[in-house]
Amino acid sequence: MKIEVLPLAPAELRPKPTDEKALGFGRHFADRMFVMEYASGGWRNARIQKYQPFSLEPSAMCLHYAQEIFEGLKAYRTTDGRVTMFRPAMNIARMNRSAAALQMPQLDPDLFLRALKDLVALERDWIPTTEGCSLYIRPTMIATDPFLGVRPSDTYLFFIIVGPVGAYYPKGFVPVSIMVSENHVRAVRGGIGASKAAANYAASLAGQAEAKKAGFDQVLWLDGVSRKYCEEVGTMNMLFVLDGTVVTAPLEGGTILPGVTRDSVLRLLRDVYKTKVEERPLPIDEVIEGATTGRLQEAFGCGTAAIITAVSEIGYQGRKHKVGNGGVGPIARKLYDDLVGIQYGRKPDPFEWVERVWP
Ligand SMILES: Cc1ncc(COP(=O)(O)O)c(C=O)c1O
Repeated sequence: MKIEVLPLAPAELRPKPTDEKALGFGRHFADRMFVMEYASGGWRNARIQKYQPFSLEPSAMCLHYAQEIFEGLKAYRTTDGRVTMFRPAMNIARMNRSAAALQMPQLDPDLFLRALKDLVALERDWIPTTEGCSLYIRPTMIATDPFLGVRPSDTYLFFIIVGPVGAYYPKGFVPVSIMVSENHVRAVRGGIGASKAAANYAASLAGQAEAKKAGFDQVLWLDGVSRKYCEEVGTMNMLFVLDGTVVTAPLEGGTILPGVTRDSVLRLLRDVYKTKVEERPLPIDEVIEGATTGRLQEAFGCGTAAIITAVSEIGYQGRKHKVGNGGVGPIARKLYDDLVGIQYGRKPDPFEWVERVWP
C-alpha cells in the first residue's frame, strides 16, 4: 500500500521547543502523524497528515471496552547527525502479538516499518540533538465501531504520533527506591500481561499510587497467583544480580511484557559480557534474603524510556532493604553505557540493532 503524504502549509508548522533540558517526556508532539483505517476486513487510506484531533463517536468501542493497544520506541540523532531507530522490528512484532491477544487486526510489518521511517524522516527536525534526548514514537490502534456491547470491533484506527523527549537522567544516573506491592497485581496467567494493552496501564495505577504514598519511587509487581515471585517494576522489566548471576522473570507464563530492552540486555550479558543469566521464577524471599546476606549485588529495571534504572532500596512488608551499596552497580552502568552508546552511534553495533532512517 502506498503512503500518501498530505501537504502542510508553512503556517501549520508549530514552533519547536528550544530548551532541550526542559523537554520532559510525552508533552510535545511533532507537526505530522501517520493514520490509516480498518474496515471491511482491510486497512486503507494510509497517510501522513497534520497532527490534529480525531473525531470519534462517543459510542466508539475503545472508549468503553479498552480494545486499545500501543507501542513505544525511539528515534535517535546519532553523534554524526544521522537519524536511526533501535530494533523497530521487535516493536512491530510485539504490536501484532498484542493485536492478536485483543482480537484486533494484524498490521503488515513492511507497511508499518515504512510508516515509521517515512514519518520520522519527515519530522527529523523535531529530533533533539543533545545525547540522551530523542524522538519518542507512539504507534496506537483503537477500536472505533459506534456500538455498545462486548465483542471485537469491526473497524479500527491505527495511528503513529511522535514527539521530542528529554534525557531521562538530566542530573546523572540516579537510582530509585521500589516497593513490593502486596495488595495489587499487574497481570495474571491467562490474562493480557504480555500485551502492550492500554488496560494494563490503567490497572497499574493503584499499585503505583500506593508505592508513591509510602514514599517509594516505583512499584515492584509480584505474580498474581502465589504473590511470591518477582515480575516487573513499574513499566520496566526487572533484573537482579545474585552472586554474580543475573536473574530475571521468564516470559513463558505470559504475564511479563517481553521488552525490547530486556532482550537486548540479555543478549549483551550472555554473548558479549559472558555473564551467567537465569530466566527463572525468582521468589521475593530470595531477593530479601540476598539483600540481608550481601548476595544481592544489584537490582535494576530496563525499558525504552530510561534504558536502565538502578534500584537502591526495596520496601517489603513494612521494612526497607538496601541493594548492594545503594548506588549504581557496575553491571547496570555498563549496560546503560553500551546500549546508549550503540543507540547514539558511538559504539559498534555487533547485532545490527540500529535501523537507518535518514539519510
Ligand atoms: C509493563 C512494561 N514492561 C516492560 C517494558 C519495557 O519494554 P521495552 O524495553 O520494549 O520498552 C515496558 C515499556 O514499554 C512496559 O510497559
